[in-house]
Amino acid sequence: MIKAIRIHGHGGPEVMRFEDIELPPPRAGEVRVRHTAVALNFSDINVRRGGFYQKDPLPMPIILGNEAAAVVTALGPDVDTWRVGDRVGYVGMGAGFFQNTGSYAQERNVFAARLAPIPDNISDVQAASIMLKGLTASNIINKIYRPKPGDTVLIHAAASGVGLILVQWCKHYGATVIGTVGSADKAEIAKAHGCDHTILYRQTDFVKAVKAIVPKGVTAVLDGVGKDTFIPSMDCTAPFGTLVNYGNASGHVPPIDIIDLSLKGTLNLWRPGVHYFLGDPERFRELMKDLFELVGQGVLKTVATRTYPLAEAASAHRDAESAAHAGPVVLLP
Ligand SMILES: NC(=O)c1ccc[n+]([C@@H]2O[C@H](COP(=O)([O-])OP(=O)(O)OC[C@H]3O[C@@H](n4cnc5c(N)ncnc54)[C@H](OP(=O)(O)O)[C@@H]3O)[C@@H](O)[C@H]2O)c1
Repeated sequence: MIKAIRIHGHGGPEVMRFEDIELPPPRAGEVRVRHTAVALNFSDINVRRGGFYQKDPLPMPIILGNEAAAVVTALGPDVDTWRVGDRVGYVGMGAGFFQNTGSYAQERNVFAARLAPIPDNISDVQAASIMLKGLTASNIINKIYRPKPGDTVLIHAAASGVGLILVQWCKHYGATVIGTVGSADKAEIAKAHGCDHTILYRQTDFVKAVKAIVPKGVTAVLDGVGKDTFIPSMDCTAPFGTLVNYGNASGHVPPIDIIDLSLKGTLNLWRPGVHYFLGDPERFRELMKDLFELVGQGVLKTVATRTYPLAEAASAHRDAESAAHAGPVVLLP
């Protein structure tokens, strides 16, 4: 028997139950891992809530979670790519973030092909705090929009898990970074990670505030907030600028009229999903290696991480939904 956080139906954090489950031996192509640090991602909250992402109802019960650092404890019959004792990490199991979940558990059987090694200089908590969030940022920086000196980038929720990584990466490429944040404390944290300007966007008209800093508008907007920020962001983007909506923390962006992209200045619009970027297992391992190297070089500093016991995952979800804190959250099994 192992312990896992399961939901038997969608709803608030109260639907999360810490339960005993049986884990069968790993099958062909699988290894068994003992989780050492499990990431909380906003997508876990979306899966728990249910709704707009899933076209078909998900089969219940579900163990939440997509991402963890772990140690290999047993090999499936045909697996020779890993050894018992290897430190590994994974980000999803090669499908959408709401499919094949299962990391909110002490142990799990995973596809051997979807694992990557964690180097010695990266701790378990560091790995769990940066893998999915860092690869989400990598998708944007390496595939969609790479800042250059002279660019000004607006990053919404700059003190969020993904936001703090984007801030550092955009500064690395020489951009001026404006970050919106929900509190004065978060403003300080965003500045400490490189934000040149911060805007308290719940108290201030952020379009006016951005235009006061950069009258011609920003080169790009990187937006993980969605409903509350995306449409007004079109009014603070320079002509030929780039709008990236990568998340919906405040809800889905309402439908837009495509002609507005022309009327607001010939704008590029992107809505990335990270699992397409991760691609095949070899590509995933290359991307993880590149990410860990950037951490090792100090380009991306892993951010102070709040930890909760796995059994208290519901409290961790409540705190994440309340937007009370900055940075990443990790659950300890
Ligand atoms: N496209 C992809 O493949 C991909 C991959 C990973 C994550 N994401 C998305 O990226 C976004 C950020 O993820 P994360 O893990 O970095 O999240 P996080 O650390 O939990 O931060 C989310 C932040 O969003 C802001 N926010 C604004 N309105 C909110 C609301 N109604 N409820 C809660 N928070 C609200 C809050 O910051 P302030 O207090 O500063 O407003 C909050 O701290 C999420 O939307 C997530 O789904 C997308």
